[in-house]
Amino acid sequence: MVDQALTQFQVLVLNNVSQNGLKRMPAERFACAKDVAKPDAILLRSADLHSVEIAKSVLAIGRAGSGTNNIPVAEMSKRGVPVFNAPGANANAVKELVLAGMLLAARNIGGAMKFVAALDPSDAEMEKKVEGGKKTYAGYEISGHTLGVVGLGKIGCLVADAAIKLGMNVIGYDPEITVDAAWSLPSQVKKANSLGDVLRHSNFVTLHVPLVDATRKMINAESIEQMKHGAVLLNFSREGVADEAAVLAALDARRLGCYVCDFPSARVNSHPHVIALPHLGASTREAEENCAIMVADQVRDYLLDGN
Ligand code: MLT
Repeated sequence: MVDQALTQFQVLVLNNVSQNGLKRMPAERFACAKDVAKPDAILLRSADLHSVEIAKSVLAIGRAGSGTNNIPVAEMSKRGVPVFNAPGANANAVKELVLAGMLLAARNIGGAMKFVAALDPSDAEMEKKVEGGKKTYAGYEISGHTLGVVGLGKIGCLVADAAIKLGMNVIGYDPEITVDAAWSLPSQVKKANSLGDVLRHSNFVTLHVPLVDATRKMINAESIEQMKHGAVLLNFSREGVADEAAVLAALDARRLGCYVCDFPSARVNSHPHVIALPHLGASTREAEENCAIMVADQVRDYLLDGN
């Protein structure tokens, strides 16, 4: 049993945990630093703990984000070390980027920006070229189109709600829970009984499931065959949920219209029909702060109270 009156807990802070979160740990009881020999706790964002030895002194780990796949959770649980995370704390940030992703794809914004950047303002033909650009990069409106939301946790439900407000039709499905048990789904969302139901009817499909055995490569050559021709696939969950090779083959065959993903990789970065981002979903000031506060509070309370 730790003597609470005397102990100052040593907290190892790895990459990008907002200062406002760390402030939740009072200095008289917690020393937060980037280099700690015998940490009582680790706070981190996306550092990979699978490849490092986690000190035997560690009593708790806090991940300032929703997923915990950068942490050996099973091994920690055998050691009796709880892993805290921040489910939902960055959901709004992810939702906003998903909406941006749909608009980027529907309005050809990436290509149009490259086109404008390459224009020479002193070119006498500039006006004519701009007219050409207006034709080449003309897009379509997302309103009236159907969005399939796969994964109905907080992010999926927020995306569904926002899409309905933008005039889209929304179909929802979750591989783990029934649609009725979803976190909070607007009544206008149609309930799908299978992934195939969502894929067959959607112009956009957005993935919001964690990466677990059941969801690994959930989008593969076979499932893509069920999608509408020219549909847009958005992956702001985890890279492994979609089989990248199958997605790229479908893009090359123009079977899929566009892949919007939040993970760069050698194969997707320069693909003409991919919009790849550097895992930016949760990267807003607000989300970083919310996540850090949520995990710092849990780790602090656990260390102080042992629960
Ligand atoms: C998450 O799991 O919530 C995200 O990966 C957060 C992050 O970008 O660190």
